[in-house]
Amino acid sequence: MLLKICFVLPLITIAIALDEPQKLKDKSTKLPPCKACTVLVESFNLGLERTKRGKHAGGDAAWEQEKMRAYRNSEVRFVEIQEQLCSEVKRGQDHCHMLSNDHESLIEDWFTNKQDEEPDLHAWLCINQLSVCCPSNTYGPTCQPCTDCNNNGKCKGNGTRKGNGQCLCDSGYAGINCNECDENNYESFRDATKLLCTPCHAACGDGGCNGAGPKSCRKCKDGWRMDTETGCVDINECVDQHRACRPQQFCVNNEGSFSCLECDRSCDGCDGDGPDMCKKCADGYQLKDGKCQDLSSQQRDSYVNITRFLTYFGMCVATCVIFQSSTHIAYIVGGAVAIYIAASEYWLNWTAQGGVQKPEIDTKQLEDLIMKSL
Ligand SMILES: *[C@@H]1O[C@H](CO)[C@@H](O)[C@H](O)[C@H]1NC(C)=O
Ligand SMILES: *[C@@H]1O[C@H](CO)[C@@H](O)[C@H](O)[C@H]1NC(C)=O
Ligand SMILES: *[C@@H]1O[C@H](CO)[C@@H](O)[C@H](O)[C@H]1NC(C)=O
Repeated sequence: MLLKICFVLPLITIAIALDEPQKLKDKSTKLPPCKACTVLVESFNLGLERTKRGKHAGGDAAWEQEKMRAYRNSEVRFVEIQEQLCSEVKRGQDHCHMLSNDHESLIEDWFTNKQDEEPDLHAWLCINQLSVCCPSNTYGPTCQPCTDCNNNGKCKGNGTRKGNGQCLCDSGYAGINCNECDENNYESFRDATKLLCTPCHAACGDGGCNGAGPKSCRKCKDGWRMDTETGCVDINECVDQHRACRPQQFCVNNEGSFSCLECDRSCDGCDGDGPDMCKKCADGYQLKDGKCQDLSSQQRDSYVNITRFLTYFGMCVATCVIFQSSTHIAYIVGGAVAIYIAASEYWLNWTAQGGVQKPEIDTKQLEDLIMKSL
């Protein structure tokens, strides 16, 4: 538990520490002119919404209504809105504050005198007074109409005094009005108002396709070949081209290409992954049960087996020797030896099957144990 805390806490601190400069950066970001004005107007509209009901509720209805009317354009409400203006803005907060300071009198003028005749603050302030934005679907210094992008792209400068009014087509679409499909897409649907472009099959190369599936490709991509029946099919480089991987590697085919992966280290050349896919066993390994196995680890195993049984034998001999002098002690020692052998055999079996690391018997420890038991 403590370990977890020790581990998690620094991570959180690091995450916060990494996040903090980002927040500061967002706060001081300078926004494009129209965007900045839009952000300010959005924040002011939030303030209007927040103070819509005023502070009072209940009481004489007629009197309350009269009071609300007075409050609607009041200095008090304006100050309330100003107090929290831009505070919820994340990106460009500093810019928002700056702009609201610069144009406070303009905004106040709208608030007190123009709320009713010009209900859209954005249009009044950003488009007409400050001339930083344009109405929707227009662009540039004089707010000219945008190119028609057929809903498949965006007009550059849309709604601002910038840009060139040309279309930036969505992915897959092309043409001045975004009413064509680009090279790697085909028309999957078209009527008077709508065009749907769908990507060509992955097997199609340059030149695209005239429909769905690998049959419609005009040309196949590298790693694929044209089949008259099925269209572009993947070339199995490992079989067809006998692509040579290095001797200690094997070839794996994948769509459009192939890769070479390293053989298991028990192999001297292989046809696949694992010690059972060897062509030949590497030095120090020998084929056993269909796998190349480590000779030295087997030797160590049998050495461990021999010493283990010798140890058991020695313990039994010791019991017999003790038996000569004292039957009583011999019973106790014999019992202990029996329990010890049973327990260690059981433990060995358990570790061998449980997938725990291979038992490495410390013979020195065993010797110590025997010496103690005698
Ligand atoms: C321009 O922006 C408005 C929203 O601000 C959007 O509804 C309209 O589709 C856009 N027009 C183009 C051509 O990008
Ligand atoms: C060692 O003995 C275990 C059983 O106790 C056996 O499974 C293993 O194959 C033996 N190892 C060798 C190398 O003889
Ligand atoms: C070793 O474990 C298996 C299953 O866990 C069991 O069937 C087997 O009898 C055990 N052998 C010994 C010698 O305890």
